Amino acid sequence: MNIAVIGTGYVGLVAGTCFAEIGNDVSCVDIDEQKINMLKSGKVTIYEPGLEEMVRRNAAEQRLSFTTDLAEAVKKSPIIFIAVGTPQGANGRANLDYVRATAKAIAESMDSFKIIVTKSTVPVGTADQIKDWIGAATAQPFAVISNPEFLKEGAAVEDFMKPDRVVLGGDNPEALDAVKELYEPFVRTGNPILIMDSRSAEMSKYASNAILATKISFINEVARLCEQMRADIGEVRRAISLDRRIGPHFIFPGVGYGGSCFPKDIRAMISMGGDEPEMFLLKAVEQVNERQKGLLIEKIKRHFGAELSGLTFAIWGLAFKPRTDDMRDAPAITVIESLVGAGARVQAFDPEAMEEARKMFGDRIQYTHRNYDALHGASALLILTEWNEFRRPDFDRVKKLMMHPVIFDGRNIYDPADLRKLGFTYYSIGRDNG
Ligand SMILES: NC(=O)c1ccc[n+]([C@@H]2O[C@H](COP(=O)([O-])OP(=O)(O)OC[C@H]3O[C@@H](n4cnc5c(N)ncnc54)[C@H](O)[C@@H]3O)[C@@H](O)[C@H]2O)c1
Repeated sequence: MNIAVIGTGYVGLVAGTCFAEIGNDVSCVDIDEQKINMLKSGKVTIYEPGLEEMVRRNAAEQRLSFTTDLAEAVKKSPIIFIAVGTPQGANGRANLDYVRATAKAIAESMDSFKIIVTKSTVPVGTADQIKDWIGAATAQPFAVISNPEFLKEGAAVEDFMKPDRVVLGGDNPEALDAVKELYEPFVRTGNPILIMDSRSAEMSKYASNAILATKISFINEVARLCEQMRADIGEVRRAISLDRRIGPHFIFPGVGYGGSCFPKDIRAMISMGGDEPEMFLLKAVEQVNERQKGLLIEKIKRHFGAELSGLTFAIWGLAFKPRTDDMRDAPAITVIESLVGAGARVQAFDPEAMEEARKMFGDRIQYTHRNYDALHGASALLILTEWNEFRRPDFDRVKKLMMHPVIFDGRNIYDPADLRKLGFTYYSIGRDNG
């Protein structure tokens, strides 16, 4: 089957590569010429475990190609996926400019019946809009299917190859069948392909992200209360996670959620509701998250006083979560901006996100090649992303390199008692009242 995937980012590149992996001929299209040239030369533009090897292999076996020529890719493909970005627009609404431009470009290139599948996260009702946009620009027949993507960055290939479920929304039975068939190799272990109307499919994606973000804000709020009441969120989390109705996932306290999806999707959902129904809960989820991003700075100021200028802070972890280079809306941005704004010096390390950080902060902060190098002369170390390689450092070495042995752990990766025994002043989330 010939397939076109428009938009070659975290979702489009992974989806296109995985469709090629099961034997389809996939054209990945992007307007970013530089990105396409890099992909053509075998260089994967994002960090995602397992992706580079898979891209190279499928490209070498000529099932996966990269192009900026949307018209050609559309002409030869009966199924076309839209996987372009839907960033936050005015008043928190999802910005559909890229989706609209893509729909129009597809319509102008179509020369036969096409199935257009929306993988981008789009507000409820967008499938109808896409039909209008395409219908206005072509007389060719077509069907629009909503197919929200649930993969997580850091495990995107694995999630795509073995999805918990596939959601397809639409009203054209033949088109739904064709897309269902495409997905069947991914659900051989029996996970379901759910067929529904497009509005419910679109809503499923937002509702899924909203409940995950709610869990994070919930545990972060309980963690704050733990600090106040001198309870330990680690113990509380263990106790509640053993209740099967609650479970162990997504209840780890931290410095707030970030990334390219939760913040914008929560805001988009709030704006979908508008005044009626006002999304009271999601507004609170967002507020709690914004406050949480400032928690380490509050702790730093309680320890050092309000005057931070002249102090040096080491930061381990910049990406919004481990196993990705994505820094979009990462809590590290808020923390670094606050420190730099207060006149402090920042020395940062991340295993994968250094290039992204450089684009964002330029020479306003220092970048180091290894995590230990960031510690030279630091008044404190901040842990902002729970990369595995930060979990068991040589603490004697850490202490020797730092000016003061102070750690602000935004991900609770160390044991407070151990750290204190080693001579560190240690602050974490919901486990002390510091
Ligand atoms: N990143 C995730 O983890 C994730 C997970 C599920 C769903 N989503 C959703 O999937 C969509 C894509 O997200 P992403 O993270 O892959 O975005 P991204 O920014 O990494 O990639 C989007 C790509 O689309 C390209 N593009 C924009 N306009 C184009 C056009 N007119 N023609 C061709 N290419 C165009 C851009 O150049 C870019 O390469 C969003 O709606 C997002 O909400 C993302």
